[in-house]
Amino acid sequence: MCIFIDCLLSPVILWPTIIASAIYFLKEYMQGGKFTKVTNETGKVFIVTGANTGIGKETALEIARRGGTVYMACRDMNRCEKARKEIVQETNNQNVFSRQLDLSSLDSIREFAAGFLKEQDKLHVLINNAGVMRCPKTLTKDGFEIQLGVNHIGHFLLTHLLLDVLKKTAPSRIVVVSSLAHTRGTINVKDLNSERSYDEGLAYSQSKLANVLFTRELAKRLEGTGVTVNSLHPGVVSTELARNWAFFQTNLAKYVIRPAIWPLIKTPKSGAQTTIYAALDPDLEKVTGLYFSDCKPKDVAPAAKDEKTGKFLWEESEKWTGLGKSE
Ligand SMILES: *[C@@H]1O[C@H](CO)[C@@H](O)[C@H](O)[C@H]1NC(C)=O
Repeated sequence: MCIFIDCLLSPVILWPTIIASAIYFLKEYMQGGKFTKVTNETGKVFIVTGANTGIGKETALEIARRGGTVYMACRDMNRCEKARKEIVQETNNQNVFSRQLDLSSLDSIREFAAGFLKEQDKLHVLINNAGVMRCPKTLTKDGFEIQLGVNHIGHFLLTHLLLDVLKKTAPSRIVVVSSLAHTRGTINVKDLNSERSYDEGLAYSQSKLANVLFTRELAKRLEGTGVTVNSLHPGVVSTELARNWAFFQTNLAKYVIRPAIWPLIKTPKSGAQTTIYAALDPDLEKVTGLYFSDCKPKDVAPAAKDEKTGKFLWEESEKWTGLGKSE
């Protein structure tokens, strides 16, 4: 007679069960911290860049669910509008808007900010989420290497154009989505724009280190204004960010590596948790200049604490965006 326990212990059933459970729990474990506090964001205004897909879309969705007014700032208006409709349908929140923002164009950034300021006189949280990763060498419309140009320089200008309204709305927040990749980064002081040599991985890490340096320098400059700024690592997330990473498009990656690392990868919803935490947790109202991972503070790489490099980057960014002159 096959009693239950014997059947269960039959190797044919036992091992696949153990392995499947192990993969399941590993996947669950790797999803990391979750933001579970209940908040009501009704009446608060948010901007999320790169909100049509991945972490950005999940962030916009969660804020909309909590009643916030959300401006989805995206490069591709068709995809933005499609994502916006899905969010409105799912949350029943009509205060979700799609607006054009191409972070690889300083003109587009100025146009976006001017348009927003015409519509709104409040901004509670700016979420600098959009990013490009491991692009082949490309320049932005203004001639910047695209990863530094979009991930850092574009957001540098956007943040500056919105600083007055953020100060007026204080307490308010800026959230900068960086990455653990910043720990591999260096700021190439002699060739910031990668003109002499270009490596897609190094340029990406440089741009993510720039995010953390910018956050820390800005936090110092905003002391006493009631505007906080923090950066974060979302986790290793399955999103379209890797679309430019040629290796990820190969068959080897598609059929062998991606399934093998699947248990280690966060879903976009899990990847958005630290952003949502930084944007919404009431306990963080006065917390500034920090870096979060898995919904808690984490130490940054030594290179990210180098104030001299932070100042250099700040001054270069002002020059590149033309902000130095007008101030
Ligand atoms: C959130 O706050 C608004 C007013 O500030 C209120 O009308 C609404 O019912 C609240 N929502 C929830 C779910 O408590």
